[in-house]
Amino acid sequence: MSTSDNTILNFRDDNKAMSASKSPFRSIFSELSPNTGADMLRYGWTKPGILSLAQGEGSMKTPDFIADAAYKAMQDGKTFYAPVLGIPELRQELSTYYAQVFGLSIPTNRIFCTSSGTTAIHLAMTAVLDEGDEVIAVTPIWKNLLGAIEIMQAKTVQVPLDHIEGKGWTFDINKLFDAVTVNTKVILLVTPSNPTGWVMKPHEIKEVLEFARARGIWIIADEVYSRIVYEGGRSASFLDYATPEDRLFVVNSFSKAYAMTGWRLGWLVGPAGSENTIRDIALYDNMGPPTYAQFAAAAALRHGEPFIKEQVSLWKNNLDLVMDRFKSNERIIMERPEATFYAFFKVEGEPDCMSLSKRLIDDALLSLAPGCAFGKCCEGWLRMCFAVSEQRMLDALDRLEKVVKP
Ligand SMILES: Cc1ncc(COP(=O)(O)O)c(C=O)c1O
Repeated sequence: MSTSDNTILNFRDDNKAMSASKSPFRSIFSELSPNTGADMLRYGWTKPGILSLAQGEGSMKTPDFIADAAYKAMQDGKTFYAPVLGIPELRQELSTYYAQVFGLSIPTNRIFCTSSGTTAIHLAMTAVLDEGDEVIAVTPIWKNLLGAIEIMQAKTVQVPLDHIEGKGWTFDINKLFDAVTVNTKVILLVTPSNPTGWVMKPHEIKEVLEFARARGIWIIADEVYSRIVYEGGRSASFLDYATPEDRLFVVNSFSKAYAMTGWRLGWLVGPAGSENTIRDIALYDNMGPPTYAQFAAAAALRHGEPFIKEQVSLWKNNLDLVMDRFKSNERIIMERPEATFYAFFKVEGEPDCMSLSKRLIDDALLSLAPGCAFGKCCEGWLRMCFAVSEQRMLDALDRLEKVVKP
């Protein structure tokens, strides 16, 4: 975001005041790249009557069978410290989940319960990144992943997907391979992708794995949206093709599939032999997720399949509404995403996504995420979360049309 945008939005004044004098914090924090998505989100919240589809979460509350399991656990006294990498019941339930939904055999000593998908990302990066290491990140990408790399004082090399009108987002695997240098420690991929909804194909996963294996490079694969797919029930996973010895961390979360964003629960799958390292980091970090909440997560895995199907079917219906409306507005460019609950689109004649998102807030009380928050390649794009009721979806589309007239 430019300085003038900062001034318009009136954010970061505290930071500016702090860095004008000598900041008492580590220098890295005055150098962090701005998070334009978070800034715009906060700007939207200052407006009464705002309809915010800027954040990545569904509007359904956590189902009762999950909340009841937490309540029961609390009543049963599951309120003490638990093992740092998760209660045995949840680690076992996750192993069963991989067997039943993915047809994979992942032993519990490779599964680590975490206080959110975000925490899983930080644990994986802390385990493998030294200061100055290079991370190749396939973009567009959720900004927090880039922030996590910055906090590790590693260097990000962005490799953008290509957007081809009429075809959608495509992955040129050679561009990724060409970006690798002797300093590359990690390849970071989000599949299905937030914000584009692009999903890696099995042959691409295999090729990246083989390439990384041959060079001793780590892969961190964020598969948080693996169940939010519109065909087939789940996306292809790196775990489908990896051996237990591969340098691979897979990040996942209860947030999206089970409507549990506020619970802060996720998990990490690591290679054989990674358990002690991840335990050490988690022990000195936050000592693991809340005990009672882990019983709720186990209930989510055990009984959550019909809920996932119900949510995905509602979101598919909303995606149909979005596609229908966008078809009738020749200024909007978007191909139907295969997965996730995001519409990531571009508007002809609107190259500046910050100014368009601000106008949408000011003139139509609609808050969307500006594309430039997702990497260098996404200047003119906007992300709209469609995991809301049909009524809110229609309201949002009307508001959008007020500003983006066909
Ligand atoms: C790609 C991706 N990874 C991880 C997360 C974080 O999930 P959690 O709520 O479990 O921290 C998100 C949330 O939006 C996401 O989009």
